Amino acid sequence: MTEERALSGKGREAERAFEATLRPRRLADYIGQDKLKDNLQIVIEAAKARKEALDHLLFYGPPGLGKTTISNVIAAEMGVHIRVTSGPAIERAGDLVAILTNLKKEDILFIDEIHRLNRTIEEVLYPAMEDFAVDLITGKGPSAQSIHLRLPKFTIVGATTRLALLTAPLRDRFGAVFRLEFYDQKAMELIVTRSAGILRVEIDAEGASEIARRSRGTPRVANRLLKRVRDYAQVRADGKITKLVAAEALFRLDVDELGLDDGDRRVLSAIIDKFDGGPVGIETIAASTSEEVDAVMDVYEPYLLQLGFIVRTPRGRVVTQQAYDHLGKKPSLRARERLGLLEEQPPQATLWGTATEEEA
Ligand code: ADE
Repeated sequence: MTEERALSGKGREAERAFEATLRPRRLADYIGQDKLKDNLQIVIEAAKARKEALDHLLFYGPPGLGKTTISNVIAAEMGVHIRVTSGPAIERAGDLVAILTNLKKEDILFIDEIHRLNRTIEEVLYPAMEDFAVDLITGKGPSAQSIHLRLPKFTIVGATTRLALLTAPLRDRFGAVFRLEFYDQKAMELIVTRSAGILRVEIDAEGASEIARRSRGTPRVANRLLKRVRDYAQVRADGKITKLVAAEALFRLDVDELGLDDGDRRVLSAIIDKFDGGPVGIETIAASTSEEVDAVMDVYEPYLLQLGFIVRTPRGRVVTQQAYDHLGKKPSLRARERLGLLEEQPPQATLWGTATEEEA
């Protein structure tokens, strides 16, 4: 399902390899996320000057914004090795101990989807991050022995799409927490142009702008759409990507002017048609669109929130007037009343009590 979407934040193996060739390797080639790059540059320079391992770093944000890429860039800038794993891949505490004891001084261990790390495994990580040590129990019963293993000073770089699902003790052990933002139009245009250059496909400024505008502020989406548009340009045009060629190719993929695809429109339409515009809980939205809760939360919702098409309230998600307008739908009388209220008073403060970040 989401894996099949042209816009999906997640990728299959071939797509990953394709993406890898387009990824910037050094900070100087990394487009966008200026504030983050600035802060990173300082952290990196300071650690290098002191000849120390970097502090543990945590990156969070929607998929496809460059959490893995930036981690590889950091390793390249530090001149250290990076070992890549993920929360769900580490099944037993022993797996993590094996990885940790193989790290060299200043190495980076990148843990993707760190929010999916099992609790007992997480507890191995605490002393490892704090004291650079692990305690192993060998044997059973009266012959059991505890071994205190010292580890070299290394760096954990964690990445998550769900900061709220991280336990406080784990979160507290990171020296810095960085949020990756959606990229602005200018940055997206530069990324599309850069990628087209690497792929040796001819593209004009308007063609790049068209792909950029429909890529939901996400480089991974832009690179994927570029690939599709390149195919279309090759087969149905003269190989060059212009505004018209890009628009035609993307129209065929059901990617609209704002970069919304069929899945996004189904989510919005479900809230409007089945729940009168909301409020409706994330699990109900997922069930009524035959999507997984994780897909709705990680892939669909962040961009719809960014566009201001939905808002989160403690009672669930609510569709805004802009979303009705975009879909060419009319709100019901009840929904109109609610939307009127929404405009007067932000939902956080009044309508449904105090808003907290709702997590499924
Ligand atoms: N490709 C994917 N993300 C990129 C970025 N942030 N800068 C340059 N190229 C990229």
